[in-house]
Amino acid sequence: MLAAAQSSLFRAAVESGPFDPLVNRFVAGAGDDEAVAVARRLTTDRLVTVDHLGEDTTDRAQAEATVDAYLTLLRRLGREGLADRVEVSVKLSALGQSLPRDADKIALDSARQICEAAGAVGTTVTVDMEDHTTTDRTLATVRDLRVDYPWVGAVLQAMLHRTEADCRELAGPGSRVRLCKGAYAEPASVAYQGAGEVGRAYVRCLKVLMGGQGLPLVATHDPRLIEIARFLAESSGRGPTDYELQMLYGVRPRAQSELAAQGHTVRVYLPYGTEWFGYFMRRLAERPANLAFFARSLLTRG
Ligand code: FDA
Repeated sequence: MLAAAQSSLFRAAVESGPFDPLVNRFVAGAGDDEAVAVARRLTTDRLVTVDHLGEDTTDRAQAEATVDAYLTLLRRLGREGLADRVEVSVKLSALGQSLPRDADKIALDSARQICEAAGAVGTTVTVDMEDHTTTDRTLATVRDLRVDYPWVGAVLQAMLHRTEADCRELAGPGSRVRLCKGAYAEPASVAYQGAGEVGRAYVRCLKVLMGGQGLPLVATHDPRLIEIARFLAESSGRGPTDYELQMLYGVRPRAQSELAAQGHTVRVYLPYGTEWFGYFMRRLAERPANLAFFARSLLTRG
């Protein structure tokens, strides 16, 4: 599925159809009206981080349009009184990191504009992590942003060999680190390959973050890892507001509500926008049952 996600022909075929009900399971909708409506509903018991979909942008105008979309969304979150429960997540490759020239500078300037707008309405920004070829550049940008906006969050992927060391470096006071397994197909030279190895690496990283002085953001739907996170939090003296459990919109929604009802801080990652293909394909790749469901819906279309 991750290979198919690179095919522009396949992408055109899939995106030309209507907004598929399965896409709607994982994506709020095409515009900020839908994103804000779903965020408002989710915030009755959870926190939210909204992602304006888009990645690997090679067109400057499109990168600027993405920044504008975030600025509009943030102003709206402020106006509608949602900014204390809803933050935003950004992908640097949507902001300019993949442009042919001055990529890092443009991505940094774009992210700065978004951070400024987020700070103005009283919310935060978390910088998503993409494939391993971008890790150093993304962490360098996060470091630069944190000079003026110390609340900017970073994402680390437990599957990468380097991540335990990155966790040590980023676990200082005031840091916000979202730990996920990693959604990209990575080579064995840089990443653990089997589910068991990735799970064990996740626990090692979690121990570093829970023992550190920042806010660990535990991004997984894996019930065993959630149990371990709860245990490690308790044994490091962390209360329910000293770490977050984070899950994707549409994945284990009942577990999300149950954890929130038990008093845990639960944050939902909520994507919206028309550029849903790459995100959606990664969600299909994570679960073969989703794939069978989607293939059936494609075949019965039209
Ligand atoms: P695993 O994949 O083992 O899933 C555990 C269980 O959760 C499954 O058995 C199933 O029940 C359920 N489940 C998981 N995925 C599902 C799906 N798609 N459909 C239906 N059920 C599913 N990655 C990345 O590389 N960079 C990033 O910036 C982020 N950001 C991010 C933010 C947040 C809040 C989350 C939760 C995740 C990410 N990820 C990410 C994605 C992450 O790396 C990983 O690919 C997915 O979370 C799936 O891994 P799990 O830890 O959930 O375990």
